[in-house]
Amino acid sequence: MTRSIFSNYKIGNLTLDNRIVMAPMTRGFADDETGEVNYLVADYYGKRARYGAGLIITEGIAINETAKGTYGIPGIFTHCQMLSWQKVTREVHQYKTKIFAQLWHVGRVSHQEILNGHAPVAPSPISASGKVHRLKKPFQTPRALTNTEVYQIIDDYRDAARNAMEAGFDGVEIHAAHGYLIDQFISEKTNQRQDEFGGSLQNRLRFLDLIIKEVKKVVPKNRISIRISEKKDDDTDYVWEYPEEMVCAITGVLAKHQLKILHPSVENYEDTLQNDLRSLHTLFRQYWDETLIAVGNIDPERGVDIIEADQADFVAFGQLFISNPDLVIRLKATREIFPNQTKDQLPCLV
Ligand SMILES: Cc1cc2nc3c(=O)[nH]c(=O)nc-3n(C[C@H](O)[C@H](O)[C@H](O)COP(=O)(O)O)c2cc1C
Repeated sequence: MTRSIFSNYKIGNLTLDNRIVMAPMTRGFADDETGEVNYLVADYYGKRARYGAGLIITEGIAINETAKGTYGIPGIFTHCQMLSWQKVTREVHQYKTKIFAQLWHVGRVSHQEILNGHAPVAPSPISASGKVHRLKKPFQTPRALTNTEVYQIIDDYRDAARNAMEAGFDGVEIHAAHGYLIDQFISEKTNQRQDEFGGSLQNRLRFLDLIIKEVKKVVPKNRISIRISEKKDDDTDYVWEYPEEMVCAITGVLAKHQLKILHPSVENYEDTLQNDLRSLHTLFRQYWDETLIAVGNIDPERGVDIIEADQADFVAFGQLFISNPDLVIRLKATREIFPNQTKDQLPCLV
């Protein structure tokens, strides 16, 4: 049977209606004081669900009070925040769409003015380059987390994940990408710790490893996605020196925990696919037998091909979903109205 972007997909007991994912995108819509989300956020996600997204991954959601990197970031560490997300999950579930909460801690990519006077925290006291989003002030040198605090944050991930499930989410995505806290532990450039969380790659991956171990206590393993990336938002030139070693080590951690969903984030899917020496997607496909989400500047027709060619199991669209809540309908309509047209002959509805 031909694989199709519109065909359903099962991960354990989780059935998704199609292979189209709305990528996680920070929007800054939350109440900045309370970290709660309101009916506008429910309406925003609800619209993308109504028009048929298979899976929505939310914007990054702060897992504790030092986790946010700009204004308007929602949280999921207080009871009221958890309750506020119930409006969103209820709205989305009306349309059979599934929704995962993206669990986020930005680490050093923040400022005390964003964190109610708390200094940003990180594996080591090395500051990010550039300026804080919206605040427009340079990043501060973060305070290095003590060993006890590292274990506390691991517990915070678990508690946030438990809240997410109580809020009605179908699963969670652990944001380990883009140069934020987990990635700061993984990267040798930002992690100079002397304890069990620093040094070898295995030690640097321990933070992620223990977070997964804790989150698994409250979320079924087939409902935990891991987002990983080579690129950092605050260090756009960064590349993995040994990509194969990284891909192998990261997928090894996920496999050890029998996780099922990997979401490697790249800026441009085609670039990583075509550059033979650094074909991250090919590498991930090679080392990862389970569900893989492709993302990064993918046009909808190309998304159809990616699924049919078995390059990935899901295709995530980011910016296109902001401007087109009805992206899935548009894609379906083009295919149904013009079934015999080749890709080049199809009118561009998006
Ligand atoms: C406005 C905006 C906010 C984003 N926020 C997040 C985020 O909170 N978490 C995350 O993992 N990625 C975030 N991303 C990255 C997207 O998930 C996605 O990987 C990226 O936009 C590439 O996909 P696209 O070319 O289809 O937009 C954001 C992207 C945009 C444009």
